[in-house]
Amino acid sequence: MFSLNKLSPTITDMIRFDHSHTLVTFHQYTTTQKPKVKKALAETICTALEIHATLEEEIFYPAMRELEGGDPTMLKSEPEHNEMRRVIAALRATDGADPRHDQLIHELMRDVMHHVADEETVLLPDAERLMTQDRLSELGAQMTKRRMQLVTPQAGKIARDTAVGFSGSTAAMVVGVAGAAFAASKLLGRKPAHA
Ligand SMILES: [Fe+2]
Ligand SMILES: [Fe+2]
Repeated sequence: MFSLNKLSPTITDMIRFDHSHTLVTFHQYTTTQKPKVKKALAETICTALEIHATLEEEIFYPAMRELEGGDPTMLKSEPEHNEMRRVIAALRATDGADPRHDQLIHELMRDVMHHVADEETVLLPDAERLMTQDRLSELGAQMTKRRMQLVTPQAGKIARDTAVGFSGSTAAMVVGVAGAAFAASKLLGRKPAHA
């Protein structure tokens, strides 16, 4: 039977795309920017990380746990997400003009870079070694569906933060969370010719 799921990007490619987007947003943040821009970039990063962490915890990590539950990188993944959530909460509670805002964004960036490095050099290659292409695409489709549920209620805020955070930036054309959501909605809306 034809399955639309098989047309989906793989879950591992989607995770890499999310990581790239988040790192690009971190790179837009400089200490000399206006507090309003700093705050918008921080919000874009926090929201993207929250959605990404939830998607991994609900879909990717459980699938990996079935295959290599005792792997040390797997075991520390969720505790590291929780540590990120602690820094995100502190960042959200800090004014963009406060010097602590810069410190917190750098603390979060360091944590995220370490975590992303472990995922991209250990977990994603393991997933691609241990799962079939169809399974990776099926999980990718599940992730897209769940992402839409998580993004939709926040779509207006995400678009506003992205517009302010990337205003005047030469990287404004970069594909952001809003772009990812748009691509996902197109994918969900796509119907096969002969289903
Ligand atoms: Fe993660
Ligand atoms: Fe990740």
